[in-house]
Amino acid sequence: MPTNVVAVTINKGGAGKTMLCRSLGVAAARAGLAVLIIDMDTQQNSTSWRKRRPEEDQLPLVWFTTENDLEETLRRARIAEWPSHLIGRKMANSQNE
Ligand SMILES: Nc1ncnc2c1ncn2[C@@H]1O[C@H](COP(=O)(O)OP(=O)(O)OP(=O)(O)O)[C@@H](O)[C@H]1O
Ligand SMILES: [Mg+2]
Repeated sequence: MPTNVVAVTINKGGAGKTMLCRSLGVAAARAGLAVLIIDMDTQQNSTSWRKRRPEEDQLPLVWFTTENDLEETLRRARIAEWPSHLIGRKMANSQNE
């Protein structure tokens, strides 16, 4: 199955990036896709959201990574042959960071 990658990114704080990423991820996971959310926000909101739900089925996995480690994280994700990735991040110059 081909891997689909969706990047959710905007140069504005509080625009709904994290919420959109999570909602898309949950919808895709419940539709039967294996979903990996790559969390690049240093606040790690999506990462802690997932950690609070360890037992729930049909949720996306969430991996936190930094910009420096993104290539390696994507490489690992490709080895795992994830059909679907969601990448959530803040832009480096986001004003609300
Ligand atoms: N569709 C929506 N309807 C109502 N509230 C929403 C919706 N999407 C996001 N919000 C609310 O708006 C606020 C900001 O959303 P969110 O945290 O997803 O934005 P963000 O772009 O990730 O912010 P940040 O730049 O701080 O990471 C949150 O309180 C969230 O609950
Ligand atoms: Mg966010």
